[in-house]
Formats: sequence, structure tokens, C-alpha cells
Amino acid sequence: MTGILKHLVDWKYWSDEDVVRVLDLAQRVKHHRWEYQGHMQGNTLVMIFQKTSTRTRVSFEAGMTELGGHAINLDWNTTNFTLSKIRFETRYLGRNAALIMARLKENADLLEMEKASTVPVINGCCNLYHPCQALADMLTIAEDRPEGIRGARLTYIGVYNNVANSLVSIAAPLGVHLTLVCPIREQGSIDEESRQRLLNEGLLTETLDAKAAVKEADYIYTDTWLDMEYFNDPGYASERDKRCEIMMPYQVNRELLEGCHAKIMHDMPIHPDYEIAEDMIEDESSIIYDQAENRLDAQKAIMLHVHRHMK
Ligand code: CP
Repeated sequence: MTGILKHLVDWKYWSDEDVVRVLDLAQRVKHHRWEYQGHMQGNTLVMIFQKTSTRTRVSFEAGMTELGGHAINLDWNTTNFTLSKIRFETRYLGRNAALIMARLKENADLLEMEKASTVPVINGCCNLYHPCQALADMLTIAEDRPEGIRGARLTYIGVYNNVANSLVSIAAPLGVHLTLVCPIREQGSIDEESRQRLLNEGLLTETLDAKAAVKEADYIYTDTWLDMEYFNDPGYASERDKRCEIMMPYQVNRELLEGCHAKIMHDMPIHPDYEIAEDMIEDESSIIYDQAENRLDAQKAIMLHVHRHMK
């Protein structure tokens, strides 16, 4: 392979043109599924997980299968990444695989993997970013809005976390207006560069008035209040309780959404009756399963795009 090595750590590192291009490709792949059958023939994706997953695992593996390639799933704890340096193990992976998708806990480890890799590395969610989810979210809005994605108004209600960072960074190139209702902002977890860009472009509103924010929204999005891996961990029980107390007035429920015509989004997995009332999950205004389904075509588009750069 002689082309340019293109990784996906977050959308902020891609040009605006490439972000638009990859969303267009995701839509094209979705509507012409069998045209792309075989585009990854003879190629292997290595997926490596330090954390649990349902959608990321399934959508990448199914996506690779449908594109004619093969995916290998590695649980970090059963690999020799636990015994050696990220650099050496990553260098080896590039000798046998065409692509790497990694869900690592720490962004710093992902950057180390990116630096060492001789094949594209795709971020399957780290502490700072969740770009694959953000593309699926934009695909969902683009598919839902006859007038197109530009000008869509998305309200995110939740903790300012990795999902929020990637929504902020993908919104600018796609012309999506984002309203953030984030009562909890952890120090060191906010990508200020992407936030400032969206503010400067007049595409970001920040408020704690959730009632007003949902009234203006076309789409309302929420996410877990505490990283999934910690939610049922007794060691995080007091942090979870503290967050629940702060966040409960911001729960997405019927009362909050009264008089609002927006569609409801959630990246899943869901903690019913925490960030969202259980009866809203399958309400007629919910497009949560469409959003999850769209992970497949988003993942295919990302893999095709970064792989083409290598040719
Ligand atoms: N939204 C998401 O990334 O789902 P999983 O954690 O199940 O992969």
C-alpha cells in the first residue's frame, strides 16, 4: 500500500470536505447496500476492546462481512497488549490486518496506537471522543429530514462527555445547530477547541433551561450520566448518586417534552428512568433504534473512506 494513512480519532482532525464526503458515502452505502458488496474483499479488520460493547462490535463486524471482508474480535485482556507496549503490538497488527478499530479507555493510549500503526486506526470510543456514534447520529438526522442535515437543530441534554465532544466537532462541518444542556462538565473532559469553533460559527447555544431548549429543537438527544463501565460498580455508587441528584431534573420525560415536536435520540445502551423515562424509549417520537441501526452504514462508510486513502 502506498497511499496516505488516514486515522479517525475524532472528526476535528478531518477536513470539513472529508466529513461531508463520509456522510454522503454513508447515505449512498445505506441505499445501495449490494453495490458495495465485495469492496473490502480480502481485507481483515481487527477490533480490540478494553470495554464492553454491543453496537460497535456488531456494526463493525456485520459491516465488514457485508463489504466482503473479515473482522477479528480481540478482548484486550486476552491479548499480549497486557504484557507488552502498545507500540510493538500495534506494529504487528498492521502486518496482518488492513484496519484497526479500537475501543480503549484512554485517549492517550489510542494516540499511541495511532502513532505506531501502519494501517488506519478507528476510534471505537475513548474517554474523550465517540466519532463513530456521531456519524451514525448525523446519518439518522440526514435520513429523517427531507430538507437535509444543514440547519437541523439538535439539543443534547446530559453530561458534557465523549459523545458531546464528538457531536460538537461533527456539527460544524455539517452546519447543524447544537444546543447543549449540560449541568455537569468534568474538568479536562471538554474539547475546548471544537467548542470554540462551533461558538464562533454561531452554531452553539449553551443553556441550563431545558424547557426552552427542547421547544426549539428538531431532535433531542440524551446519554448515560455516568460512563457505562462505572454505572453498576459499587466503587462509583456515591458518584452515581451525586450525578443522579444533579441530573434528575433534566431527565427526558413526557413532562419536559410537553408541547414539543422533536424526535428523541439516544446512543444506547439506555438506563431507563435515569437519563430517559422508560415510556419515552419506544414512544412514536423516538428514532433511537433507527439511530442504532445506522451504526452499520456509518461504520461501513468510515472503513471504506480510510481504506481508499491507503490505495
Ligand atoms: N453506542 C455504543 O457505542 O454502543 P455500544 O457501547 O454497545 O457499542
